[in-house]
Amino acid sequence: MKRISLTQHLVEEQRLHNSIPAELRLLIEVVARACKTISHAVGKGALGEVLGSAESENVQGEVQKKLDILSNEMLLEANEWGGHLAAMASEEMETIHPIPNRYPKGEYLLLFDPLDGSSNIDVNVSIGTIFSVLKAPEGMGEPTEEAFLQPGAKQVAAGYAVYGPQTVLVLTTGAGVNCFTLDREMGSWVLTHRDMKIPAETKEFAINASNSRHWHPPVKRYIDEMLAGETGPRGKNFNMRWIASMVADVHRILNRGGVFMYPADAREPEKPGKLRLMYEANPMAFIVEQAGGAATNGRQRILDIQPKKLHERVAVFLGSRSEVERVTSYHFE
Ligand code: AHG
Ligand code: MN
Ligand code: MN
Repeated sequence: MKRISLTQHLVEEQRLHNSIPAELRLLIEVVARACKTISHAVGKGALGEVLGSAESENVQGEVQKKLDILSNEMLLEANEWGGHLAAMASEEMETIHPIPNRYPKGEYLLLFDPLDGSSNIDVNVSIGTIFSVLKAPEGMGEPTEEAFLQPGAKQVAAGYAVYGPQTVLVLTTGAGVNCFTLDREMGSWVLTHRDMKIPAETKEFAINASNSRHWHPPVKRYIDEMLAGETGPRGKNFNMRWIASMVADVHRILNRGGVFMYPADAREPEKPGKLRLMYEANPMAFIVEQAGGAATNGRQRILDIQPKKLHERVAVFLGSRSEVERVTSYHFE
């Protein structure tokens, strides 16, 4: 097999589609390098003293794990000096992080969920990093939170890394989705899955069923119909998977199809779901659409939502197109 490195792939994409100017390439390579560092720390586990709680809370009131904070610092440090960014934002920081004055500033904005699937860290189950890249608005001056509040359709790149049995990096710059596997001996990202496409039809769904008593009627109906199996309205049996790391669930769906849901429910009516729009739902929606799938909040395409707040939450239905269209249509009946 001829090995194509991440760098070679990015250079060739630029030649083909003119979609990855040098600064964006640097940004992606720097994020990929930070993911390598995070992967290394994750792999050390107890030996690296990276497990357990940090005994602090983030802005969403979630207890932070040591690795949440470490990964956040690794991404900040890696991305500060390159001159490619104007500012960053993260699940683990209440406000935006402008590039310090001692470094030159660039035209991109980077958002990330440094460590996705925190509840799985200490039990050695796959976790990951999610990131989204926007362009700073023309003539922005000092970066502000408002500069970040752009619909997901404006993303110029998005990706995620999964730290699992293998460490992989999945990336889109708007011309399809490609996956790189970390060669741990060489320390390099190698292109292993080209132009990934989500199968349109599926028999697999992912939802945290422990919340079923709180679900709204369209979600309840959709799941009940699948659970009814062969003799029910869908006429086939479905299987269920829930890893509780969005990265790992989405990665499975990208490879073999399926539908992932984190709906809003009746518990806290003012809270539209659990996942965050800007650094979880948007990058995943961009990747899923680029792979031929679909992503909605039950009523609207996720990428069309105008964000109002950096840490805003959103209901998520994403994956195989036909299933996302079906569950979305139930919301209008
Ligand atoms: P994070 O660890 O970044 O806070 O995200 C966890 C998210 C997502 O990855 C996962 O799908 C979901 O929370 C799991 O939720 P449950 O605890 O309801 O299973
Ligand atoms: Mn997350
Ligand atoms: Mn996280």
